[in-house]
Amino acid sequence: MDRIKIIKKLVSILTIILLAVLAVLIAVFVGHVVRVNRFNAENRVITPNSTTTEAVVDIHPRGQLTDSWEKRDTAGIGVVLNAKIYELIVTNNSKTLMNDWKLRIDIKEECYLNNGWCGSFEIHQIDEDGTERVQTVDLRNYKQSDLKIEYRIAGQDLLIPLKNGDYIYYIPDSSGVSGEVPLKGNSEFSGSVTCGFIMYSRSGNVDLSNFEFNYTLHKTYFSDEGIFFVVAFSIWLFAMLIISIIFVISVQYEQRFMVQSRMLDDVFKLCCNLSDSRDYYSKEHSRRVADYSRLIAEKMGMDKSDCDSVFTAALLHNVGNNLISEQILRKMGRLTSEEYAMVKTHTTKGAELLKDIKNIPHAEEAALYHHERYDGTGYPMGKKGDEIPLIARIIAVADAYDAMNNDRPYRKKFMKDQIREEFIKNRGTQFDPLIVGAFLDIMGERDL
Ligand SMILES: [Fe+2]
Repeated sequence: MDRIKIIKKLVSILTIILLAVLAVLIAVFVGHVVRVNRFNAENRVITPNSTTTEAVVDIHPRGQLTDSWEKRDTAGIGVVLNAKIYELIVTNNSKTLMNDWKLRIDIKEECYLNNGWCGSFEIHQIDEDGTERVQTVDLRNYKQSDLKIEYRIAGQDLLIPLKNGDYIYYIPDSSGVSGEVPLKGNSEFSGSVTCGFIMYSRSGNVDLSNFEFNYTLHKTYFSDEGIFFVVAFSIWLFAMLIISIIFVISVQYEQRFMVQSRMLDDVFKLCCNLSDSRDYYSKEHSRRVADYSRLIAEKMGMDKSDCDSVFTAALLHNVGNNLISEQILRKMGRLTSEEYAMVKTHTTKGAELLKDIKNIPHAEEAALYHHERYDGTGYPMGKKGDEIPLIARIIAVADAYDAMNNDRPYRKKFMKDQIREEFIKNRGTQFDPLIVGAFLDIMGERDL
């Protein structure tokens, strides 16, 4: 039972520790969530002068393949235009999802945007009077009638005129089409994508060196360092599960123990009642002697388990009465010497009954020797001093107190002072003086 109590106490302490750990984990996790939200909300910018390697933007002509493209005055422009394909390579080195991006390119010279793939263009044309025309156009798929910006048609081609001061935004397609699709939201964590567009100019080389690349990165709460929380919460849950199982098992064991203990108490009560019912004047006698014996044991500094043993053994000290004739036990007058000799056998008969009871320590000794006297004049063995087992010396004092503290047919119960005098007078003769001392202390402290 003590082990169960220790286990339950340990479970309580571990539960408190685990709850504290959970509180710390939650606090740290909330901090982590705030940091991730800040990280995801941060608008990141790359310009040609940036030194970051987190993401790299490279805009360059795609070789010589299209150098020979030219458009003569088919769109009423009045000059010969040469085309070039420009590749836009975006590389994400962050190992984190690049959630979205947008590239602004400032136009420094007269040129014509002809085509583009992998996304749309937000085109800003500034008129000479300062009026700004803006329209987002997917150059792969548009209706000429919908165009609100300035444009030319050269044969089958659309040419959107741009000049110094105008600017365009390249907005990647996030539709998830395969091929040269830019970094899609929620799909790509790292790597490169290549986009492209065609521009015409007189020289065939357009200066696109002035750009601004805006992007955000996106972490989930349980990626990167978030894995720590997944592991920590899993370990916490596992530990809590184990502790809960131990707690449930210990409670079930305790309940079973309590039921058995109550049944055992009832069996003890039955034994005591049987012993005490043999004599009109001994009702509850065994229980009271057991209570006093336990008080003495506690006063003498015995540990709890020894005190419990003393109590249980004392409960059974008169069990031998069950084998003595009721006629003798209930006799109102003086006993004959034969009858008294018979009464004295309750000690040996009780010991005989208890000899096979191995799980109640000292029960047999308690029954056999509780009428021994310290000076060796008691019965049944005439043992004296320390020869008499301690349990029996304790019960002798408790037994005498209960006898003096209750009425008998031939006398009234003693006053407390009389009882004290009796103990003092008989210590060292009838009783162990140390035990008498302990009991007198108890009488002084308690209202027995
Ligand atoms: Fe007795």
